[in-house]
Amino acid sequence: MIKQLSLAIALSVLSFNGFSQISIIPKPVELKVTAPGKLLELNPSTRVVTAQSSLRPSADFLNSYLQEFYGFQLEGSSSKSNSSTIHLSLKRSSGASKEGAYTLSVENNTVKIAGNDEAGVFYGIQTLIQLLPVKSAGSSVKVPFVTIKDEPRFAYRGAMLDVGRHLFPVSFIKKYIDYLALHKLNYFHWHLTEDQGWRIEIKKYPKLTEVGAYRNGTIIGRFPGKGNDGKRYGGFYTQNEVKEVVAYAAKRYITVIPEIEMPGHSSAAIAAYPELSCFPDETTKVANGTTWSGPATGKHVQQAWGVFEDIFAPTEKTFKFLEDVIDEVIALFPAKYIHIGGDEAPKDNWKRSPFAQQLIKEKGLKDEHGLQSYFIQRMEKYINSKGKTIIGWDEILEGGLAPNAIVMSWRGEKGGIEAANQNHNVIMTPGSHVYLDWSQLGPDKGDSVTIGNKNTVRNSYSYEPIPKELDASKAKYVMGAQANVWTEYMKTPEKVQYQIFPRLTALSEVFWSPAQGRNWDEFVPRLQKQFERYDLWKVKHGPMNNEK
Ligand code: ACM
Repeated sequence: MIKQLSLAIALSVLSFNGFSQISIIPKPVELKVTAPGKLLELNPSTRVVTAQSSLRPSADFLNSYLQEFYGFQLEGSSSKSNSSTIHLSLKRSSGASKEGAYTLSVENNTVKIAGNDEAGVFYGIQTLIQLLPVKSAGSSVKVPFVTIKDEPRFAYRGAMLDVGRHLFPVSFIKKYIDYLALHKLNYFHWHLTEDQGWRIEIKKYPKLTEVGAYRNGTIIGRFPGKGNDGKRYGGFYTQNEVKEVVAYAAKRYITVIPEIEMPGHSSAAIAAYPELSCFPDETTKVANGTTWSGPATGKHVQQAWGVFEDIFAPTEKTFKFLEDVIDEVIALFPAKYIHIGGDEAPKDNWKRSPFAQQLIKEKGLKDEHGLQSYFIQRMEKYINSKGKTIIGWDEILEGGLAPNAIVMSWRGEKGGIEAANQNHNVIMTPGSHVYLDWSQLGPDKGDSVTIGNKNTVRNSYSYEPIPKELDASKAKYVMGAQANVWTEYMKTPEKVQYQIFPRLTALSEVFWSPAQGRNWDEFVPRLQKQFERYDLWKVKHGPMNNEK
């Protein structure tokens, strides 16, 4: 392994004309070292010129990065005639090049970043940040003379965070968004509602957060757990906090997509409003083999992980509730997309419910899967009427796909292939490669407790979002791919960091860079450099695992 690594490092140094400093992830489409050995100094008298005022967020991001990690900032303007300049501009190119495309050049006394759009300039800034030496003493840094032409392969480059199982402070949500930004990702999928907690303030339904945001305890350790900690756990994001997060992300050219789960994963909403259940008077079922804390009867927020039978009843009351919730959500999130879940909704309760059975007959539906399809299509119609598009997990294919839905393919690639073949847009998120809750080492190999399975960084890096089985004419329906971070076994920000790094870094290259040219051995030395950046950022990270 050591031999292999040093060979790879030597190769990469050679390929960059001796500039071991150049180590950019995701790998740019084109990079040339224009004057080997020459370096441009950036220091507090470097001027930052923004040709358009809309480019300020990019200049601000660079300055706050320099301040936080190098202890100095660049001047907006400087009277020193020989000071270097960073010039940011928009250069809308004629048609061909993609959203987010940019060029970057470091030449005599100037760094020029020209973006096809504002996001492109921001991505140029991320590349410039990676041209900086990781370690630097004093108030200056030097960058090599290069020209770079770059653009993203996929329009959708996402990462999801589940805040239902465990909750993270707004300060960490912002850090998470920064991690996405540093990797040129552009969608943050915020999984806000779960069986174990409802996490977004909805003013019309205050019990969602008064009741639904708290559980009376949590199982201890790996499911089914060694008992229950008996501690009340929970919290939620106020609408003001949500707005703050959305605005923070927007300055980083990241769109926040909210997920409101339906019809399953709804125990917390049902605990708040039992009438949303087919069986309001039935006691919440405790997961097999787990220990419960607190009152043993009535509806409660779940305390263990898994899939639960108590799902939304398909009644007018439920639809009105969900439409009201969606109204408040749409007012908070400018995203074109609203994720409505749709996964893991057991049909047991609908089978037992005379109301649900009657509805199946009345609507001429085939079965309970048909009813789920009716449920999702009805919500889609409502959400479409507000000018938004729904995203759903691949179960929304069962019983018939809603006409305009985007499918998130998580149970492997099958759902994505099926949806693309029906001319629907898809986002690939197969568990096998992009689930960052999976162990990086293999189960019980020192990762502390995880959900299990095995997904090494090398395995994530090997992922190809366009499935081989998909006809070339349908590949255009693959909008991109996303890393998913389910947090049953992540109680702290540090554990989230450990789980996402380095795999998120590997996936950023899968999502951004051209497929041809992706090579693990060439990637390894660049990833080694990224480990130094993790240290600079003071983030925890998982291992460099060379195993497939
Ligand atoms: C999922 O992992 N249940 C989408």
